[in-house]
Amino acid sequence: MRAKVLDVRREQDGQALREAARLLREGRLVVFPTETVYGLGANALDGEAVLKVFEAKGRPADNPLIVHVADPSGAERVAFVPELGRKLMERFWPGPLTLVMPARDVVPSTVTAGLSTVAVRMPAQPIALELIRLAGVPVAAPSANLSGRPSPTDAAAVEEDLGDRVEMILDGGPTHFGVESTVLDITGERAVLLRPGGIGLESLEEFLGYRPVLPGAGEAATHRSPGTRYRHYAPKIPLFLREDESVWDKVEPWAAGQRAYVGIRPPLASCAFIRLFPDVESYARGLFSALREMEKSGARVIVADWPDAARVGFALRDRLRRASGGSSIPE
Ligand code: TXA
Ligand code: MG
Repeated sequence: MRAKVLDVRREQDGQALREAARLLREGRLVVFPTETVYGLGANALDGEAVLKVFEAKGRPADNPLIVHVADPSGAERVAFVPELGRKLMERFWPGPLTLVMPARDVVPSTVTAGLSTVAVRMPAQPIALELIRLAGVPVAAPSANLSGRPSPTDAAAVEEDLGDRVEMILDGGPTHFGVESTVLDITGERAVLLRPGGIGLESLEEFLGYRPVLPGAGEAATHRSPGTRYRHYAPKIPLFLREDESVWDKVEPWAAGQRAYVGIRPPLASCAFIRLFPDVESYARGLFSALREMEKSGARVIVADWPDAARVGFALRDRLRRASGGSSIPE
């Protein structure tokens, strides 16, 4: 099977979206753009369809999926929404905020990985919203990459990973945020930040009146947020963080022709492949595609700038930290 790639940006008659919606209703897989990254969608009420998502990605079965809805009432269908949830939706939806809430029985255990909670979000992407509306069902969707690879921020990256594993890819152009949604658990007394993302910590803190709890490392934390157990966003070549300028000594063993650099500040050593961004938002937007490009450029090592933690910088730091896991000097 080779995926049908349909550019839906200038579609006038809605034909492609209707076909995609029909596929979803029939229990098949459709990749669609969101404002964060591309999602690999299946009917969230169809346990068999959801299983195919895990197969296509090679995703561990104990890592639950996010359910995408077209409006807050869609969330009520799959979750018991607490008062705080309603208020958060009013303020941040549509947008990159995923809420973890107690799940209703209609949600198959394949979606929740057997947990009693379900993660729900309403994306701020007209194509995604229209697709969910037309499908008439909530859509379970992880990022549309092979498990462990950087999330796809354009249709070409999706094709690279899943081109022969899904039926249809809706091309909506490059995504706006480039990092995934913020995941907030609101089942307890205090909101817990399970994954930093497109909605910054400052905005949440201002709204909640307190800083959401950041789960520390260790057993308890990984239990609450299964996704954090796995190595994510990994490029195929080692990646070093420019937390301070000693990074340039660390990449000394590689020739300039083998070095790549991505970030906001210019590099302090010569690098054959350089991708510079004017601010933290565009760095976040472009990071994942830069990582994929760099692998293909023939580079053997990547140095990544360490951004300020403000706004989306907090999520960017998280992704960079994960991407750097396992980096080591060549022997
Ligand atoms: O921006 C996004 O969130 C993208 C787009 C496609 O919407 N989706 C995405 O999905 O990043 P995924 O599957 O790559 O990440 C989902 C995260 C994982 O860390 C998972 O563990 C967590 O959400 N999650 C899902 N359901 C959960 C639950 N019931 N309790 C705790 N964490 C949950
Ligand atoms: Mg993912």
